[in-house]
Amino acid sequence: KIVNVILSGGVGSRLWPLSRKSNPKQFLKLFAGKSLFELTAERNASLVDEIMVVGNAEHIDWSKELLNSLDLPKAYVVESQPRNTAAAIAFAALALDPEDVMIVTPSDHLIENKDEYDAAIAKAIELAKKDFVVTFGVVPTKPETGYGYIEYSKEDVISFREKPNQETAQDFIDKGNFLWNSGMFCFKAGVLLDELKAYQPNVYATSFEAWSHAKDGELDNELSASIPSISIDYAVMERSNKIKVVPARFRWNDLGSFESLYDYLKADGHPVDKQGNMVIGSSVFSAFVGLSNTIVVVTTDALLMLQKEHAQDVKKVYNQLEKYK
Ligand code: GDD
Ligand code: MG
Repeated sequence: KIVNVILSGGVGSRLWPLSRKSNPKQFLKLFAGKSLFELTAERNASLVDEIMVVGNAEHIDWSKELLNSLDLPKAYVVESQPRNTAAAIAFAALALDPEDVMIVTPSDHLIENKDEYDAAIAKAIELAKKDFVVTFGVVPTKPETGYGYIEYSKEDVISFREKPNQETAQDFIDKGNFLWNSGMFCFKAGVLLDELKAYQPNVYATSFEAWSHAKDGELDNELSASIPSISIDYAVMERSNKIKVVPARFRWNDLGSFESLYDYLKADGHPVDKQGNMVIGSSVFSAFVGLSNTIVVVTTDALLMLQKEHAQDVKKVYNQLEKYK
């Protein structure tokens, strides 16, 4: 069977204070009254036999409620603590049959142009059935440091580089044969587990141990704690030689930081002044003097001001917070 595995465990710390621990960005109803989580499930429902959500215990009931109206089988893997995407994907793979094809998607990306999306998924499934690990490549528009880069030649992947520094990212853009990794993947459950076993035996072993003691899809907290926290990008994608890339011709925005949210809002007609300053979350009259590319984010209990180019550093503020997470 073909399964959409929705990863819904992140807190969206780079979108603080819009995104909060109790109300992470995938559940914010920012898009015509719908959340990115719902839009993700709806987009994939027509393409798969089952939806499997991997997410934190705190939010799982919320996910269940949001998927209620979709008429297809659902499964839930409940994490007692986040152990990053290598482990989250491993749990899903362990819960499935090795021959099942997984379409792993984040829960918090904005994707438009469903026809192109469907075509890319169909192509990916074809490759996954031949035991490849499939990534989806987006044509880069700037030297973004928060993404993975795929060096490619047609559908072959020459190398995968997760989150390069600014200089390296610029170098990749100049070279021209690099794509952004969209953060979605497609592979057979068994193929992914073999790759994880080969390149990160400890992540594999500890995830396997934790999963084998899970009760009704719920992971034990103590066993989870011993799983190394590493993303699938560093764990498998940078190392595997079974990777293929399918071009993502659909419109894609990961809304991962205020820089990408800014780009999205600007294209959507949200006001920006001549120097590129933007206010999010307030409609009071605002003026910027001597500032450019500044983003001001207003919520009822927190205010954030940042230089657009430093959007990745919002995570640092979040990580230092106690009270206002
Ligand atoms: N269930 C679960 N558990 N989900 C998780 C966990 C976890 O412990 N950690 C992260 N996730 C989810 C997030 O909610 C998100 O949907 C997805 O996994 C990816 O995690 P991010 O933290 O958003 O990753 P990233 O944005 O730094 O990088 C990834 O995405 C980029 C594109 O948006 C990488 O795949 C990059 O290579 C890629 O370019
Ligand atoms: Mg992300």
